[in-house]
Amino acid sequence: ATNTLGSEIVGIVNKLQDAFTAVGTSASQIDLPQICVLGSQSSGKSSVLENIVGRDFLPRGTGIVTRRPLVLQLINRPATAPQPNGTATPQVNENDPHANENEWGEFLHLPNQKFYDFNKIREEIVRDTEAKTGKNAGISPLPINLRIISPNVLTLTLVDLPGLTKVPVGDQPRDIEKQIRDMLMKYISKPSCIILAVTPANSDLANSDGLKLARDVDPEGQRTIGVLTKIDLMDVGTDVVDILAGRVIPLRLGYVPVVNRGQRDIDSNKPIQQALQYERDFFENHPAYKGKANYCGTPFLARKLNMLLMHHIRATLPDIKQRITSQLQKYNAELVTLGGTMADQGSSSLVLQVITDFCSEFRATIDGGTNDLSLNE
Ligand code: GDP
Ligand code: NA
Ligand code: MG
Repeated sequence: ATNTLGSEIVGIVNKLQDAFTAVGTSASQIDLPQICVLGSQSSGKSSVLENIVGRDFLPRGTGIVTRRPLVLQLINRPATAPQPNGTATPQVNENDPHANENEWGEFLHLPNQKFYDFNKIREEIVRDTEAKTGKNAGISPLPINLRIISPNVLTLTLVDLPGLTKVPVGDQPRDIEKQIRDMLMKYISKPSCIILAVTPANSDLANSDGLKLARDVDPEGQRTIGVLTKIDLMDVGTDVVDILAGRVIPLRLGYVPVVNRGQRDIDSNKPIQQALQYERDFFENHPAYKGKANYCGTPFLARKLNMLLMHHIRATLPDIKQRITSQLQKYNAELVTLGGTMADQGSSSLVLQVITDFCSEFRATIDGGTNDLSLNE
């Protein structure tokens, strides 16, 4: 029951996120808990996200590929149609051999359109990015909202952000570094944001741009989790055991080491499931990690994030409730002045409806009257 309630709460938070986006900035005083991916360009941020989802769907390439925030809502929904196994199940889409009826994506800007072909999801991210920023590697703070419904994901909300960069490329604006930094700050400075600071293990942790920026907004390390990528590219005989043990730059929430696909794996279309198996074998057989393989790799990272998000949402619920209540009162007062009803107010009424549902459905939890959200690993 614990996990179901957890999923429901994240589900409601996701609905609120959509509603706020639809209304625009007027409701942005209410910050919803989410996990933001932070790190320098090519540190492996998009790879980590794809591994968590278990599907290929993010645009990749050289240069700044992620040029707008991508708010990625993962929703766990048990399979209703038979899961594909081998060739026994007919394919939903011949262009995507992994497509099946239980797993799809939906964009907020394309309501009622289900994407079963994850290649099409990638194409739409690229298309909408270019539509809003142009093709010249400019960036925009306008988020793309994508929801993925699948029996194979844990319910989580993740935000992919452009990577920190130092040198403008092509006809990028000269102040691109500052533009990106300002955009990242907008997300990570919110106390409701859990920061996933991604650092490649084959570079010096002390020089990690992600960790440095995270420390500016979260000096105590209360809401920063470290992800160490490219463990497979470390020199023979070196490892991250000291970092994991908190002896280099300690983080309260710790570090998780992962192995993603290398560029050659991507070029040869190595399936993600094969890459996850490789990652598992890597940690289980490596002399430095085999004793703690349960605390290494993408599946452990996903479970850890799911729990952190749940704890975090619970901790921030009283504050969210208070903000929602005061907004509600403000809206109601405005409506009375206007002599209107909720139904007249278009998207505002959507927010009010979601908020009302949220408060009535979760009053007990919000008021702290239940321990149902306690999560034990
Ligand atoms: P982003 O710019 O931070 O989103 O980074 P990407 O996920 O696009 O990865 C950048 C490059 O690093 C790609 O060529 C990836 O294949 C490679 N890469 C990422 N993580 C790993 C890893 O754990 N091991 C190896 N060998 N390569 C990785
Ligand atoms: Na990249
Ligand atoms: Mg990226």
